[in-house]
Amino acid sequence: MRSRSTTPTIRPPLVSRPACRRIRKADGLIVVSPEYNYGLPGGLKNAIDWLSRLENQPFKDKPIAIQSATGGPLGGSRVQYQWRQVFVFLDAHVMTRPEVFAGLAQNKFDDKLELMDQPTIDFVKMQLAAFEKYMREKLACSFTAVVQL
Ligand SMILES: Cc1cc2nc3c(=O)[nH]c(=O)nc-3n(C[C@H](O)[C@H](O)[C@H](O)COP(=O)(O)O)c2cc1C
Repeated sequence: MRSRSTTPTIRPPLVSRPACRRIRKADGLIVVSPEYNYGLPGGLKNAIDWLSRLENQPFKDKPIAIQSATGGPLGGSRVQYQWRQVFVFLDAHVMTRPEVFAGLAQNKFDDKLELMDQPTIDFVKMQLAAFEKYMREKLACSFTAVVQL
């Protein structure tokens, strides 16, 4: 009598492979998230979960910056900590500061969803400048690691 495996075969959604390739090729990743009930939005979490189950998952050693926007005043400060926790497990490098929170986001974008709020624009610029430096540092570290081998 043949024994049957109890482990189900898991097939990742087809779109996850091109997304995975794009993340692998990128020098860094900016995760822009809403906050649902003080927590992670299910759809985006699900996408990250699928990508994380692919062989040679693409988040390892990847520099990551996080931004969030919400209708409430705090701009997703709570969900950002939950994203950090997720990426710890995935061995990514999440930049700590500057943080970008766009609270009351419905008042900060125009009809074409262009960001119009100057303080938020300034924070985003500051974060992007810091993230470029952060990515370069992480890249230099990985070269050093290769040389040391
Ligand atoms: C299920 C759900 C939960 C939400 N929870 C929060 C929350 O915890 N904090 C907050 O500021 N806004 C919350 N909002 C409002 C979202 O910030 C706002 O709807 C979001 O910017 C729009 O994102 P969406 O297009 O993905 O719905 C919530 C919205 C939904 C639909």
